[in-house]
Amino acid sequence: MSSQFNVPSTIVTGAGALRELAPQLRRRDLDRVLLVTDRFMVGSGLVPRIVAELSAAGIFTEVFDDVQPDPSVDNVLAGLARLRAARSQAVVALGGGSPIDCAKVIAVSSTNRGPMEQFMGRDKVPNAGLPLIAIPTTAGTGSEVTKVAVITDTRRDVKMMMLDSHLLPAVALVDFELTLSMPPALTAAVGVDTLTHGIEAYVSKLATPLTDPLALSCIRLVGENLECAWREPGNRAAREGMMLAATQGGMAFANSSVALVHGMSRPIGALFHVPHGVSNAMLLPTVTRFSVPGALGRYATVARTLGWSPGVESDEAAAMTLVDGLDALNARLQIPALRAYPKIEEGKFRASLAKMAADALASGSPQNNPVVPTLDQIVGLYLQAW
Ligand SMILES: NC(=O)c1ccc[n+]([C@@H]2O[C@H](COP(=O)([O-])OP(=O)(O)OC[C@H]3O[C@@H](n4cnc5c(N)ncnc54)[C@H](O)[C@@H]3O)[C@@H](O)[C@H]2O)c1
Ligand SMILES: [Fe+2]
Repeated sequence: MSSQFNVPSTIVTGAGALRELAPQLRRRDLDRVLLVTDRFMVGSGLVPRIVAELSAAGIFTEVFDDVQPDPSVDNVLAGLARLRAARSQAVVALGGGSPIDCAKVIAVSSTNRGPMEQFMGRDKVPNAGLPLIAIPTTAGTGSEVTKVAVITDTRRDVKMMMLDSHLLPAVALVDFELTLSMPPALTAAVGVDTLTHGIEAYVSKLATPLTDPLALSCIRLVGENLECAWREPGNRAAREGMMLAATQGGMAFANSSVALVHGMSRPIGALFHVPHGVSNAMLLPTVTRFSVPGALGRYATVARTLGWSPGVESDEAAAMTLVDGLDALNARLQIPALRAYPKIEEGKFRASLAKMAADALASGSPQNNPVVPTLDQIVGLYLQAW
């Protein structure tokens, strides 16, 4: 079976990659840009610095900083209005996955008619968007290199997953120095999201010979660097390792797929506003235990790649070491269980199980899992993870 592999045509990595922004815009003759970001990035001083640098290069920047975590349809519409009013020729995204995803959908909404709900699913974006340059500040979603965007439809409480090569940034500037300011809780959440990308890309039914090495490198780098970055936020080597892991994880999962963890995680985010990485982490051990029989050798390889299982252990033992290790990792990173998370009220959680399971299946992600669950099994997994 053939498979397609899409990544941005230019990816600049390493300390100081951000300095490439003006030159990359200039070489494309783009001198009016919409900068899509959030309030934190403005408050941190980074946005004013970027605006000044672009201005010195003769580029006019309109700043749209109204993106919320888990961006909504309304965030995209507000950004689109600003883009049109400012007659921007290109979009620059600065921030975590939320500003980057919002910017992707602003860029394609400017060149496609109709409601953005039509973009939900695979290959549903008819026309290419305005050029997009993505600059991640978390490590992370990998959104800077993916053809994926997740936008929340607040009317239906659904996180809409859109996957189309028209959503790809033209350029990704991957500068780990921008992640040095992440506090430990954020480092943990986005770091386990990265790990989940690596694992799901590797065990997915859609894994390919091009995605496997990226997924395994992502997993190895997380094993080597996540806890150090969490303990020592200023550790440059650990931050660089996690940034690389996030970008490789993004390249891997967007061209393979995510699977059951992400499928079940999005409904929790949509209903209870749990950060994406945290809801992944809450589900990862339980879903891994369920999925091991479908890809035993691959899960064993994940355990060995993380450095958790010695090579002499059998595949069965290594896979069990992985499940236990994922539980222990959550505990060490102080990521709470579902039942201990203040925003998740037990009555509402139980009452929402059928909707969450149906929305998980409707996203298509569980169908790529090594073991494809029924609706009832998904309900059972939510209860086990509780
Ligand atoms: N498109 C994709 O490929 C993809 C993949 C995975 C997840 N996602 C989506 O990405 C979103 C989550 O993105 P995220 O986890 O990066 O978080 P985020 O963008 O929602 O940011 C979370 C918080 O961290 C802050 N922050 C960002 N960078 C910081 C820094 N350097 N220092 C301190 N604070 C910082 C933000 O201001 C915000 O308050 C979700 O909507 C998720 O569904 C997308
Ligand atoms: Fe994710």
